[in-house]
Amino acid sequence: MIDYSKDTLDSSTDNIMSTEFVPGDDVEGSLRPRTLREYIGQEKAKQNLAVFIESAKRRGEPLDHVILHGPPGLGKTTLAAIIANEMGSTLRKTSGPAIEKPRDLAALLTNLEENDVLFIDEIHRLNRSVEEILYPAMEDRQIDIIVGQGPAASSITITLNNFTLVGATTRSGQLSSPLRDRFGIDLKLELYKPQELKTIIERSAQILNVEIEPEGALEVASRSRGTPRIANRLLRRVRDFAEVYGDGVITKELADRALRMLDIDPLGLDTIDRRLLKSIIDNYGGGPVGLDTIAATINEESVTIEDVYEPFLLQQGFLTRTPRGRCVTRRAYEHLGLKFTGPETDLTGQTAIDL
Ligand code: ADE
Repeated sequence: MIDYSKDTLDSSTDNIMSTEFVPGDDVEGSLRPRTLREYIGQEKAKQNLAVFIESAKRRGEPLDHVILHGPPGLGKTTLAAIIANEMGSTLRKTSGPAIEKPRDLAALLTNLEENDVLFIDEIHRLNRSVEEILYPAMEDRQIDIIVGQGPAASSITITLNNFTLVGATTRSGQLSSPLRDRFGIDLKLELYKPQELKTIIERSAQILNVEIEPEGALEVASRSRGTPRIANRLLRRVRDFAEVYGDGVITKELADRALRMLDIDPLGLDTIDRRLLKSIIDNYGGGPVGLDTIAATINEESVTIEDVYEPFLLQQGFLTRTPRGRCVTRRAYEHLGLKFTGPETDLTGQTAIDL
């Protein structure tokens, strides 16, 4: 059982473990790598991408359209910027919800210069009428525009410059198949391993001029939910503790003390993760329970639970998804210091009765 009664600050940790980009994430010089060589982790995606970029460059063609999927904070925007940089192109950034009308997207597309990289974050949130503009644009570099109104209206076809669309999504299941089929390159980003995050933290510490011991970096890395955005944010907060309580050097002990004060437990679970697991245990006997019911019980959005909290809890084997809902595993009970009373599930989420 972990004792959180000591050493706990009452400060909110909302932003600290948020996987959303928050102001301050990119201060003090960019921590973002600018080349594939500097980019740590995601080996499979990186190796494939390096081949596709090299071959497009040799042919003198733009890179095929790329879809990046994975939980927030793993570096989808960073990869889009790297793609543009490696291709020697300019990056133009927008997001699905920002493009409200077909004409907004038409304006964006017609203003692209030769070989630009257009990045659309949260591309699954494009509305259907906007999305339909993308199909001929991606396939044939063409868009059809209606000019005039009523009987005098006519359609003209505009040919666009060559461009690469990089779409990012946290929910690949919500992409329509016509859109998904038009991406030639499909890259799935995975949660990072502690050793990879350790390397990222050491690189960031160097850029930020922070002294960190290897064990200190690993401690922060192991408690960052597999997410570089969180790792970099925790690094800055732990540095604050190192300056106030220590001599500025981040040791393992100091990192541990700081992270406990921030309510982040030894495996990286924060207060919301624990509340989520506890509420399934206390109110639903450990599950199975539906996502919307959990969301209502802990007062969070279902999509936030699904996109932000679940990937890490599933990866850590604390939660399973079954056809009848979510179940808390024995491992989670043990981590929370509770006696296991829930249904026995294997890691595929099947209960003993199903097996
Ligand atoms: N900073 C954030 N993500 C990174 C990554 N994948 N590699 C290097 N530095 C990073």
